[in-house]
Amino acid sequence: MIILAVESSCDETAVAVVEDGRTVRADVIASQADMHATYGGVVPEIASRKHVEAIAGLAGQALAQAGVTRREIDAVAVTYAPGLIGAVLVGVNFAKSVAFALQKPLIPVHHVRGHIAANYITHPDLEPPFVCLCVSGGNTMIVDVRSYTDMEIMGATRDDAAGECFDKAARVLGIGYPGGAPMDRLAQGGDDKKYDLPRAQVHGAPLDMSFSGLKTAVVNLVHNAGQKGETLDLPGLAASFGAAVSDTLVPRTMEAAVRRGYGKVAVAGGVAANSRLRSDLERACAQRGLALYLPALPLCGDNGAMIGCQGYYEYLAGRRAGMDLNAYATRDIGLG
Ligand code: KG4
Repeated sequence: MIILAVESSCDETAVAVVEDGRTVRADVIASQADMHATYGGVVPEIASRKHVEAIAGLAGQALAQAGVTRREIDAVAVTYAPGLIGAVLVGVNFAKSVAFALQKPLIPVHHVRGHIAANYITHPDLEPPFVCLCVSGGNTMIVDVRSYTDMEIMGATRDDAAGECFDKAARVLGIGYPGGAPMDRLAQGGDDKKYDLPRAQVHGAPLDMSFSGLKTAVVNLVHNAGQKGETLDLPGLAASFGAAVSDTLVPRTMEAAVRRGYGKVAVAGGVAANSRLRSDLERACAQRGLALYLPALPLCGDNGAMIGCQGYYEYLAGRRAGMDLNAYATRDIGLG
């Protein structure tokens, strides 16, 4: 079964051609990151306009790369939630028009479910159930993946997403946007105990998280140093920051894995590329005898292949959308 998959929830326009869920025939992406870097964050209106400009051309490229004609497309899958509403709407309307023109089924895909599915592409042997730590620029949650389409949030951030926190810290340090990858590089060789940064607990909700205090701590540290004319140890600060994020995410993921007892842990989303997080999870899972599944680095960030993969499993579960499909800025992953 050939699925044309469309993703436009933030600042990457992506179209993929995926066969039978796990074979990626083409995966093309147009990133707008350079455009938004000028502003230090994603400007929603610019994102929507850039998606409109890129999306049809990308679909043509994806089909050409896959060697697939329009007639050979069996279904169209699209991210319909969550994301920047104007941005998601562009993908949804494009997917609707393709499905209508070709008279093929339209499959709505939850963006974070797509991130989880990136693991099915990387690991052909992986099947649910497992516990998945989903960490991206807009979402941070621990999900019980009971089946390909039956999921429940076990814990989530109460405020900022981990990726957003990386981006804000990088912005105040002036090291670029998006900030996760430059923070990761800067942290290499830095002393992770150099700065004492907070690891917040949510009272009464041990699997929930909070990152806003960590973000504020870095902002205050930088401003105070500036006012006193002190020089910060930037590699030490980046390493201490990465340690604080990892120390928040890893123990909760382990606790969730132990509670469910599946023996398998996966990670998903842009922050899954973080080297400190990956190595801490490897160590923690090895200590507990848990199998760890990490997505291949190119599949950590937003892409169309993951939407095509999850779209296949949504299709098998009978999920279809009509021409009245809408886009949503937020939506519980459990609702699909
Ligand atoms: O999954 P993604 O591409 O977009 C969303 O769905 O939100 O994630 C983007 C986020 C950004 O916040 C980016 O800074 C972060 O992932 N990121 C990283 C790394 N690479 C990307 N964060 C930490 N370490 C990295 N190596």
